[in-house]
Amino acid sequence: MTKIELTAGVYWVGAIDWNLRDFHGYTTLRGATYNAYLIVDEKIALVDTVKHDFSGEMLNRIREIIDPEKIDYVVSNHVEMDHSGSLPAIMKIATKAQVICTEKGKEGLIRHFRGTWDFRTVKTGDELKIGKKTLFFINASMLHWPDNMFTYLKEDKILLSNDGFGQHLASSFRFDEDVCSLAGYDCDTVMEEAAKYYANILMPFGGIILKKIEEIRKLGIEIKMIAPSHGMIWTNPIKIIEAYLKWAKGESKPKVLVIYDTMWNSTQTMAKEILKGASDSGVEVSLFHLRKTDWSEIIKEVLESKAVLIGSPTLNNGMFPTVGGFLTYLMGLRPRNKLWATFGSYGWAGGAVKAVNEKLKSGGYEPVESIEVNFRPDENDLGKCYALGQKIGSIVKAG
Ligand SMILES: Cc1cc2nc3c(=O)[nH]c(=O)nc-3n(C[C@H](O)[C@H](O)[C@H](O)COP(=O)(O)O)c2cc1C
Ligand SMILES: [Fe+2]
Ligand SMILES: [Fe+2]
Repeated sequence: MTKIELTAGVYWVGAIDWNLRDFHGYTTLRGATYNAYLIVDEKIALVDTVKHDFSGEMLNRIREIIDPEKIDYVVSNHVEMDHSGSLPAIMKIATKAQVICTEKGKEGLIRHFRGTWDFRTVKTGDELKIGKKTLFFINASMLHWPDNMFTYLKEDKILLSNDGFGQHLASSFRFDEDVCSLAGYDCDTVMEEAAKYYANILMPFGGIILKKIEEIRKLGIEIKMIAPSHGMIWTNPIKIIEAYLKWAKGESKPKVLVIYDTMWNSTQTMAKEILKGASDSGVEVSLFHLRKTDWSEIIKEVLESKAVLIGSPTLNNGMFPTVGGFLTYLMGLRPRNKLWATFGSYGWAGGAVKAVNEKLKSGGYEPVESIEVNFRPDENDLGKCYALGQKIGSIVKAG
């Protein structure tokens, strides 16, 4: 195994999950990695571990560098099992190691592993000197769970950000710049996956992200590299920080998204007519059938688009189940700064559009317009759909 060094004495000792295609419902089309980092100085610190199944892979990487028995500190930036799953395995070997985490981290780790380890809890501003290198801790509550923290390597200016700034991407490369080095091939894979990750995992926490970035600026922390716990290490941290600022503020493209399901294609006919109207108004458009596209991909599109239109046929007085499921997922992610509209077809008493509108309202969103059509849309209905598309398109275009 080749040793992977971020800088002198800082190694990547994580694992690559090439075959992962479903990360608790999030479709990881390109696999994933669990990044752990080994810091070797007078004392040795391991920052985060990997998913349980991969503890052997991590230990082998550590053994290439040092004897894992010699680890003095295991820093746990996050309790979630993709990062703490191999903690019991490492603590069995590194018997003298202290576990460093936040107070909430300690509570969570005890609930998960019932471990009676030697815990040291830390908060923002606490430091741990391990020789020439200093680990500086920054609380990062809710990025991704209440227990999260960042570990900053002071002298090397590397931020170990755990889930923050991550992407799900299995690759033989470890650094962002290496993924896109061949002309003619897709070069934005890392950013694309970072956007999908942000949209599906961190979108609800935009406000917290803005405050955290501001807090880090105020602490006067200079960041040369961001090493997250998933995917590529950012050698150009400004690129991803700027993207996070944009996403967290709810800045999007002038794009109209039409998302729907249908049983007998009436709602689909409406969707396509709306799409035509929006497209004719000169903005980018996209259309997604909820049983044909992976939802985590659609969520990434939601993040990037200004307008979101939701269509559903009526089924048993309510909305179609996939629309209900998708809206439940979407409302939980609390998208910011969108323009909403709704539509759908019904046979007799209807109910779908009303239910969609209520669901949106429960999230604090007000659709600008709704169209309901009895059975198949006629010329008049199609005209209304086209006009709705045009109206939304022009609002989006005007910014
Ligand atoms: C299983 C099933 C249940 C339905 N339940 C209702 C209902 O409760 N109320 C209603 O107004 N229409 C109901 N409909 C009628 C559909 O809403 C209607 O056919 C509509 O045009 C379907 O739109 P679509 O072509 O986009 O699927 C039902 C249709 C099916 C197939
Ligand atoms: Fe997490
Ligand atoms: Fe994670």
